[in-house]
Amino acid sequence: MSKVIRNGTVVTADRTWKADVLMQHGRIVAIGTDLHGDHEFDATGCYVMPGGIDPHTHLEMPFMGTYSADDFESGTRAAVAGGTTMVVDFCLPAPQQSLLEALQMWDNKTSKAACDYSFHMAITWWDRQVFDEMAQVVDKGIPSFKHFMAYKGALMVDDDEMYASFQRCAELGALPLVHAENGDVVAALSQKLLAEGNNGPEGHAYSRPPEVEGEATNRAIMIADMAGVPLYVVHVSCEQSHEAIRRARSKGMRVYGEPLIQHLTLDESEYFNRDWDHAARRVMSPPFRNRMHQDSLWAGLQSGSLQAVATDHCAFTTEQKRYGVGDFTKIPNGTGGLEDRMPVLWTRGVNTGRLTMNEFVAVTSTNIAKILNMYPQKGAIVEGADADIVVWDPKRTKTIAAGSQQSVIDYNVFEGMEVTGMPRFVFSRGELVVQETEMRTRPGHGAFVARKPNPAPNRALSTWKEITAPRRIERSGIPATGV
Ligand code: URP
Ligand code: ZN
Ligand code: ZN
Repeated sequence: MSKVIRNGTVVTADRTWKADVLMQHGRIVAIGTDLHGDHEFDATGCYVMPGGIDPHTHLEMPFMGTYSADDFESGTRAAVAGGTTMVVDFCLPAPQQSLLEALQMWDNKTSKAACDYSFHMAITWWDRQVFDEMAQVVDKGIPSFKHFMAYKGALMVDDDEMYASFQRCAELGALPLVHAENGDVVAALSQKLLAEGNNGPEGHAYSRPPEVEGEATNRAIMIADMAGVPLYVVHVSCEQSHEAIRRARSKGMRVYGEPLIQHLTLDESEYFNRDWDHAARRVMSPPFRNRMHQDSLWAGLQSGSLQAVATDHCAFTTEQKRYGVGDFTKIPNGTGGLEDRMPVLWTRGVNTGRLTMNEFVAVTSTNIAKILNMYPQKGAIVEGADADIVVWDPKRTKTIAAGSQQSVIDYNVFEGMEVTGMPRFVFSRGELVVQETEMRTRPGHGAFVARKPNPAPNRALSTWKEITAPRRIERSGIPATGV
């Protein structure tokens, strides 16, 4: 059974042109004029783009004494509703747990995924077993490893562990990721704030100032440079962190930065709301920042110093957030956004002239597929690619409301925001999963996407590091030791 998208304008990361797109057996088989198939979908007035890829989600994740509320069923339903056709989730081994055992646990959660998915593996502790198992994780198609520099006493790893793990990533051709915040300073500031009676959700923001993020980003960049490996910095929220990435890139370092749609569009005033629930629902790490930081992030997307827009979707209900009444350090950290990332970025980015349509495709899909080494299977409108396609209607509009969202939580941090630009059709490997407001998802349709190690940036950097490695100088006239 073939399907054809007719009369649309194809928009990719580098081109815009009028063409029909023919799909068969889950793949794109032809792009051209006047194509026909068994089923035809009208894209008049629409843009035909690679489906979005969210490189950063936490579905059904055990965290801070509870589990994030959206699982792979509701999370991927939210994803496709907003034009995202692939998510990359984080597998988090418990302390001393085997990476392979944790991977099996994460794999067990995915049976109802409605779109394709992959994983990053988190390095949450360190010893010989972790070192050895990293190779097996890469063999299973997961060549990216996340390191938390925050969450002291829980997920945080120290510099020596991070350096060892980054070196192992370099050997394996893998990509290290970092959550960059100085966990020691955050922990100390949190205790000081609590002792001073500052226990509301605003304390969360006070405890994680931009300098704390900037320092950790600089440190991670230095460690990656010493280890000779590229680096991906997740949820870059501020100028201090962006500045570190920008500077590293201008020195030729292979460093990538990922702002979130939340940090681009929501600001720190949310934490000063007098309604405790309102403020706590927005508690995430790093916290929302002020306008100056938002402008920096937009500039990074425009200039190319930041490459990917994610959600860090980690949704908790209001009831779960209330675990932290009287102590902000106990509010589960995280917000939703999977359904909203693409419409909000289009509305605040493309409709305002901050981004071109091609840049929109690059930062929501193509750059991510390239960095995570699954391009052009994903992130491309090209013959042979998976038919993960969003037919984007730039005129469709809605007001974001928790009452009509796919996520199971009882609120939405973008509540009341009007968006213009939404999917008309969404295809996941050639299967129609969304038609405007009608959800056609089939739980279980989603499949694991195995990724290969050693993409070009790793190979290039290894070559350069080998050529410029310290070398012993052979000398003829060595003086006597004087003993
Ligand atoms: O607050 C956040 N970001 N929660 C999810 C876990 C993480 O740090 O990525
Ligand atoms: Zn994080
Ligand atoms: Zn995260």
